[in-house]
Amino acid sequence: MSLRTLMFALGLVTLAPAGLVMSATASPPEAFTLAPLPYATDALEPVIDQKTMEIHHDKHHAAYVKNLNQAVAADPALQGQSLEALLANASRLPAAVRNNGGGHYNHSLFWTLMAPVGQGGEPSAALRARIDQDFGSWDKFVTAFEEAGLKRFGSGWAWLVWSDGRLQVISTPNQDNPLMDLAEVKGAPILANDVWEHAYYLKHQNKRGDYLKGWWQVVNWERVNALFAAAAQ
Ligand SMILES: [Fe+2]
Repeated sequence: MSLRTLMFALGLVTLAPAGLVMSATASPPEAFTLAPLPYATDALEPVIDQKTMEIHHDKHHAAYVKNLNQAVAADPALQGQSLEALLANASRLPAAVRNNGGGHYNHSLFWTLMAPVGQGGEPSAALRARIDQDFGSWDKFVTAFEEAGLKRFGSGWAWLVWSDGRLQVISTPNQDNPLMDLAEVKGAPILANDVWEHAYYLKHQNKRGDYLKGWWQVVNWERVNALFAAAAQ
């Protein structure tokens, strides 16, 4: 008996195609990965403090990715699907996929929607014109977006979405998002703000409204303009 055959018999290795020897305890390739932040953790100071960014990305977002991978690994039918495909089927999938898949998608988008103060550019003329058309004025849009975040009971998100040929402000509970088949309003995300307490509590405690008002200073309008242009074309 060869050493490899002996190890196989003892369950220490598995035989794989093409002569590969794989450890029996090797975990499957992880389907989803946590990308690094596109800026330093202190880059959004003083609007969002460094500690909040560290915990938010390195702990909360990382946990969504880990738990999503675990949920997908447990069900072969879910493997090989894109995140968007999973979300589009959220109503028929385990809660762990809905919650952690949404968490991964929402946060991956969220990081790119922010930039250091003074580096996010300005809303494009096209976006401003469409905001005026759909909300009446820029100020009315800002008020609607802040209210969507403020009135979301518990945890969730405020969104600007392109839906049914127009811009709409909505909010979703928990880690739901407008890509999910179960969303009340489905559409393409243009802007999103995280109103979970973990996004603001260290600096603002219970004052979610202060966080929402200050957050405009770190919006990455260049990114928002691009999302709008792609969705509304
Ligand atoms: Fe979050």
